[in-house]
Amino acid sequence: MNRDSPCPICNDSGWEIIVEGEHHRAVRCRCHLKKRTERLLQEARIPKRYQHCTLKNFKTPKQDDLWTAKGVAKDFVKDYPNVDMGILFIGPCGVGKTHLAVGIIRELIEKKGMSCLFYDFRDLLLDIQDSYNPVSESSEMNVLAPVLQAEVLLLDELGARRPTEWIKETIDHILNSRYNDKKIVIITSNFLDNTKEKDRYSLEQRIGSRLLSRLREMCRKVEMDADDYRNKFKPQGFNIIK
Ligand SMILES: Nc1ncnc2c1ncn2[C@@H]1O[C@H](COP(=O)(O)OP(=O)(O)O)[C@@H](O)[C@H]1O
Ligand SMILES: [Mg+2]
Ligand SMILES: [Zn+2]
Repeated sequence: MNRDSPCPICNDSGWEIIVEGEHHRAVRCRCHLKKRTERLLQEARIPKRYQHCTLKNFKTPKQDDLWTAKGVAKDFVKDYPNVDMGILFIGPCGVGKTHLAVGIIRELIEKKGMSCLFYDFRDLLLDIQDSYNPVSESSEMNVLAPVLQAEVLLLDELGARRPTEWIKETIDHILNSRYNDKKIVIITSNFLDNTKEKDRYSLEQRIGSRLLSRLREMCRKVEMDADDYRNKFKPQGFNIIK
């Protein structure tokens, strides 16, 4: 919408008047909805790298894990807000976990007008840590308020940083508050949720058993086992250093 010229339908009031015989009724003008969607998309802070990600352009040529994962994502959007669990996408690097998660929040914004927020796990910890710095402009509440308030929080790469007690407490506080408010989290992680496998690759080791059991209550686990999508399109011989 050109800011200089008012909306030809509602004259920037945000309401369109529908005349039906002798009756008039006001409905939200399209320009209002469009502006709201634009604002929500900005506030979601989807990184540039993932701006192109939609559910539509997530390719699933075979009926494999990825095909199932996309189905779960589409159903989630269709059913929202009548869902009581979020989703935990788990799988190796490059299989499209973040792509699908971003596709979900994008559709929730565009189709359902929901407020969503993307946060990389490491960035979140850094931002909270930075808020304790007396020189920093931000306060802990400034950082945490949107994380606690967004209808849907996308926490990308959970466990990507070594967990200290402080990290566990912080994430526990965030998840606990959201759990109590019945707010949904969508999570991606490269770490397997396999309690038998207590090596460094298990999610339990990375985030602790208390947090993991909370996550199991909050999220449906969706495993994505496939090859790195980016390798499929590399020309042969590219990137081979001998
Ligand atoms: N099935 C797919 N269809 C289309 N693009 C994909 C697919 N899987 C991955 N990509 C693209 O490959 C790149 C890596 O995917 P990403 O979601 O970052 O993987 P992950 O989060 O699992 O590490 C992204 O640019 C993403 O858009
Ligand atoms: Mg990712
Ligand atoms: Zn209008």
